[in-house]
This record gives sequence, structure tokens and C-alpha cells, in this order.
Amino acid sequence: MNVNRRHLLTGSIGAAAVALTASACASEDSGSNGGSGGGGKVGIAMPTKTSERWIFDGDNLKTSFEDAGYTVSLQYANDEPDKQVSQIETMVGQGVDVLVVAAIDNKSLGGVLAQAKEQEITVIAYDRLILDTPDVDYYVSFDNTKVGTLQGTYIVEALDLENAEGPFNLELFAGALTDNNTKYFFDGAWAVLEPYVTEGKLVIRSGQTSLEQIATENWDGSIAQERMDNILSNSYKGDNKVDVVLAPYDGISRGIVAALQSSGYEKMPVITGQDAEVESVKYIIEGLQSMTVYKDTRALASTTVDMVLASIDGGEVEVNDTETYDNGDHVVPANLLDPVSVDVNNYQEEVVDSGYIDEADLA
Ligand code: GAL
Repeated sequence: MNVNRRHLLTGSIGAAAVALTASACASEDSGSNGGSGGGGKVGIAMPTKTSERWIFDGDNLKTSFEDAGYTVSLQYANDEPDKQVSQIETMVGQGVDVLVVAAIDNKSLGGVLAQAKEQEITVIAYDRLILDTPDVDYYVSFDNTKVGTLQGTYIVEALDLENAEGPFNLELFAGALTDNNTKYFFDGAWAVLEPYVTEGKLVIRSGQTSLEQIATENWDGSIAQERMDNILSNSYKGDNKVDVVLAPYDGISRGIVAALQSSGYEKMPVITGQDAEVESVKYIIEGLQSMTVYKDTRALASTTVDMVLASIDGGEVEVNDTETYDNGDHVVPANLLDPVSVDVNNYQEEVVDSGYIDEADLA
């Protein structure tokens, strides 16, 4: 296995390169199991349309696979695990050659993926690892621990925790417990923050620190808002103010901002995020959210297509991590891209100049 090569193609360059590879191979291989550009079918199972990133992911994947000569079935399951299972069952029944799955519930897909394996379908866990099944071939994502490290490091620098005396009041939020990424994000951030909590420079007044206490069902911003409302009324009576919130994802960050606004905060604490959603980049410009972690879903889509084409051609699938992602059955070979910390100082360069977000959408 070829470890170490990273695909950091931008979406359009990546898609163009894939299209070239596909047309070059089309005449050589149009066998029954797809073959690159040989009229194969791919099923793409995405979790929800409530978060902008999955819409980008789905669109980018669809375009990239179509450019490579594939017929695409793209489905969203409204954050309902059963619905996702039945969508994948339908794809298997339609005779897809490849499944690209961003799981809603990481443990609910074993049965349907066993059916997929009987049909020799290549299964790629997309962004979120699928657990407890032998039937996942590859994992493509960003370095999830680094996402948390970037959020934690941002907090340390924003509050100058090395030099400041504090104490600062911190509250913690995490994602859905059904998502394998949740723990990686939190552990990455906590490794950076915990020493300051131990030292007493960061104080968690709510006392809520376990993953079960701080998790957010379905990554739902309104659930995070409700939890923040409760924290504010129970643990921040009188003059106590929240100074900093670890939030794992932009939709959750905006729920937290809403709770703080309705309890009268004019100046926002330091608040982290992830995904560089348009609304949150606007919040960053307005000073309502401090940072986000930008993950270029165009690069994720083109990397996925590269992996699928190599796997179907029987070539070497390029991965750069063969140790970290044990799914409970085996260590799934992974291709991990690099996330980028974005705040008011670099959003223009990272997300606008790169073409990820249209400047007009930020007006
Ligand atoms: C995670 C993903 C994040 C964020 C979150 C909520 O699995 O890695 O980027 O999108 O889901 O949708």
C-alpha cells in the first residue's frame, strides 16, 4: 500500500484529472464491474440536507463521478438511520458497483453492507467511519484529531492562556454520539485544553465534561441552543460570564450564539466551529463566532473518485493512514486530508479566493 501521498487537488483540477484518466481508460475497460468510465454505477448515501456541507459533498461527488463516466444515485436520509439503511438497500438492488456512504449511525449499517459485499460492491466510508463491520474497504476523510487540535489551539491563542492568569469560564460541546468523528474532534481539542483546566486557568462552571453530557444529538443547533440556555440559567447567575465555548461544528456554534444573545450577551465569547458554512463565515466577519475549521469538500470528493477508480481498476489505492481508524473489526485504510483553521484574518484567502464560497453570498 502506498502510504504518504496526499491528494490536495482543488475540485475543478481534481475532476478534470479524473475525467482525463477516465476517458483514457474507457476503451480499455468497460467490464461488468464498472471499470473507470465504463458506465459503472455509484450509490452515494449522504446523511442530511440540514447542513450545507453535505449538500456540497453530494453535489461535488455527483459531478466528479459523472465526469468519470459513472451513473450516480445520490440520496439524503434526513438524519434517519433506518431511512439510510433502506436507501442503501435500494442501491444494492440497483446493482451499483460502488457505495460511498456518510453514515448517520455508525453502527447501523452492518447488515446492508454484508449484502453489498455479496455483490462485490466496493464500499467507501465517506468522512465518517462505519463501525463493527468487515465490509468497509476504505475510509476517506480529513484528519479528525487535527480538527480538534486546531479548535483547542485557537482557544489557547485567543485567550493567551500561556501568559494570562485567568481564570476563564469555558463550556464544552460535542457532536452526535452516533458519529465516530465526535470523539476524535473532542479528544483532539481536549488534549490541548485539559492542562489549562487542571491548572485552573479554565473553569467549567456547569461541571459538564463527559462526552455523554456534552454531546449534541444529530449535531442539531437547536438542541445545542437549548443546552446552552440551561447552562446559562443554572451556572451563570449574577456577574459570571462565559468566556469561551468549544463548539465542534458551525450549526452548533450558531445555536450557542442564539442562546447567548437571548440571555443578553452583546460581546460574544470565543466560540469555535467547523465546516466553513456561509452563515458562520458571516458570523466570523460580524464577530459573533471566532473561528471555523475549513474542510475543502471539493478535494474530498475528487480524492474519493481517485480511490474508487484505482480500486475498480485493481490498481493501488492511495492512502496515508493505516493505523488510526480501527472500526472494531479491522483497521480501515484511510486517506486523510488536511483541515485548515479559519478566522477573520484568513477567511478571504482560504474560503473566498479559493472559490469555496462565493463572495456575493457573504454580503
Ligand atoms: C461530521 C463532519 C463535520 C460536520 C458534522 C455535522 O461528521 O465531519 O464536518 O459536518 O458531521 O454535519
